[in-house]
Amino acid sequence: MKIAPSILTADFNRLEQEIKSISKSDYLHLDVMDGHFVPNISFGPHVLSGLNKITNIPLDTHLMIEDPKAYIDQFVRIGSSIITVHVEAKTPLEAICRIKASGVKAGISLKPKTKIEALYPFLDQVDLVLVMSVEPGFGGQSFMTDQLEKVKALVELRAQYHYQYVIEIDGGINLETAKLAKAAGVDIAVAGSYVFNAKDRNQAIKDIR
Ligand code: DX5
Ligand code: ZN
Repeated sequence: MKIAPSILTADFNRLEQEIKSISKSDYLHLDVMDGHFVPNISFGPHVLSGLNKITNIPLDTHLMIEDPKAYIDQFVRIGSSIITVHVEAKTPLEAICRIKASGVKAGISLKPKTKIEALYPFLDQVDLVLVMSVEPGFGGQSFMTDQLEKVKALVELRAQYHYQYVIEIDGGINLETAKLAKAAGVDIAVAGSYVFNAKDRNQAIKDIR
C-alpha cells in the first residue's frame, strides 16, 4: 500500500523543511479547500507553486472545491500528477475531461454520506477513486470504518468490469486503520496527523505502509 501524507497538517511557515521530513512519501497529498464545498479554507495554487521545485515526490491534488473545472489549469501548472474532484461538486465530468486532456491522471472522490452508486457514471473514465473515511474539511478526525464497504465494492466492480482505477482512502489513517484499509483492498492511503504528529515521520510512513 502506498502512502500519501497530507500536507494539510504541515507547518506552512517552514514548508520546505516539512516536505524534506517526509521524504519517504510515495505521493504528497494536497488538500485544497475553498470554504464553500467544505467549511474550511486551506491553500491554493499560488502557495503550492513552488512545491515541485523543492521535491520530486508526485503531487496528489485533492480538490474539495465547489467549481473544480474553473481551476484545473492552475493545478496542472503547479505540476500535479493526479487531480481528484468530488462527485458532489459542479460539473465533475467536465472537470475530469479537462484533467485528462491536460495529460494528468484524473480522480473522483465521494463524501461519507454519498452512496457508491453516484460514482457509476465515472468509473470507466478515472485513474483513481478516493474514498473519504472522514467528513472532508479537517485533519485529525476518527476513521469511519463503514466506508470500507465502498472500498470492497470498488474492488469488486474493478474486477467485474476491468476498470483501471486505483483506490485511495483519506482520513483517520493510523497504524490500526491502515491495516483495515489494506485488507479491504486500498492501494494508496492518505495520512495527515498520524505522520506529521510522529517524532520520526519517515518511520511512521514505513509503519503504516
Ligand atoms: C479532510 C482531509 C483529511 C486529511 C488527512 O478533508 O482530506 O482527511 O487529508 O487527515 P488525517 O490523516 O489527519 O485524518
Ligand atoms: Zn484529501
